[in-house]
Amino acid sequence: MSSAWHTSGLLVVLVALVVSVWAEEVKENSCDVIGDQSSESQMEKALLKKLEPLSQMRFNTTVELGTTENYTYHFRVCREVDSSLHDFAGLVQIDRKTGKTTVVGRINETQVFNGSDWIMLIYKGGDSYGRHCSGEKRRAVIMISCKREVTASSFNIISEEREKEQECFYLFEMDSSVACPAEDSRLSIGSILLMIFASLIAVYITGGFLYQRLVVGAKGMEQFPHFAFWQDLGNLVADGCDFVCRSKPRNAPAAYRGVGDDQLGEESEERDDHLLPM
Ligand SMILES: *[C@@H]1O[C@H](CO)[C@@H](O)[C@H](O)[C@H]1NC(C)=O
Ligand SMILES: *[C@@H]1O[C@H](CO)[C@@H](O)[C@H](O)[C@H]1NC(C)=O
Ligand SMILES: *[C@@H]1O[C@H](CO)[C@@H](O)[C@H](O)[C@H]1NC(C)=O
Ligand SMILES: *[C@@H]1O[C@H](CO)[C@@H](O)[C@H](O)[C@H]1NC(C)=O
Repeated sequence: MSSAWHTSGLLVVLVALVVSVWAEEVKENSCDVIGDQSSESQMEKALLKKLEPLSQMRFNTTVELGTTENYTYHFRVCREVDSSLHDFAGLVQIDRKTGKTTVVGRINETQVFNGSDWIMLIYKGGDSYGRHCSGEKRRAVIMISCKREVTASSFNIISEEREKEQECFYLFEMDSSVACPAEDSRLSIGSILLMIFASLIAVYITGGFLYQRLVVGAKGMEQFPHFAFWQDLGNLVADGCDFVCRSKPRNAPAAYRGVGDDQLGEESEERDDHLLPM
């Protein structure tokens, strides 16, 4: 009894431990779209959910332009690049000559929208420009294009637009399958049911055939499962058809019926006999 108590006590402690570790991980900051919790756009929320698979990845790109520009950019989708150094920084520029880091955009000021096969992710609230752009805050614009079969690839900087009065931005691009439109399933429910039905019939026929041949020891047409039943059913259907569809009255001239049905029936049976393997 007491050992059972010990075991359950241990279990509770273990569960508490797991939950607290899990909560620790969940606490990581994520993208926050502009506006109150209540007034946030549903479209933006849906898109952030779509981007979630990329959140554990880290992206880097480097530009080397002559002797003046030698920068590395670190980027994460809706996570902090380095939470200990910069609050909410989602895209950081590192000057490789001086080691100076500059926050280009923050995830607590996210904007996101999409088109048919792309998603635009914008981080605002970066460090302020000095001389350029009227000293406004930097912003990162990341264009994510649809590319099927890759989770994420080719993160690259396209340009830095800063020779403007305002609304300057750093423009990046990358490829990802999350930006792709949902592929409509090529099989409709109807065709799936049809396929299941067809395969059931195939299983029935082959299974029944093998059973009749190997277990019962049937030969010829008798090898088909429930041959007599299907023959009866066929006759019934034929009768029904005959009754419903035939335009002429059933008591058509006897001679005509004799020639048609009986002779054909006999002939086809004879032909079948020749075809039998044994
Ligand atoms: C990008 O850089 C970070 C930090 O230097 C590194 O941890 C990460 O693995 C790099 N990612 C890629 C895809 O190279
Ligand atoms: C985002 O975080 C930065 C750094 O902590 C802060 O200065 C800024 O006010 C925050 N923005 C919003 C919209 O909360
Ligand atoms: C950029 O910086 C890296 C690391 O300091 C250095 O290896 C590289 O040669 C530099 N590139 C240019 C074009 O100066
Ligand atoms: C944007 O994404 C949503 C959700 O995936 C999708 O329903 C919508 O069609 C996309 N917008 C456009 C313009 O394709």
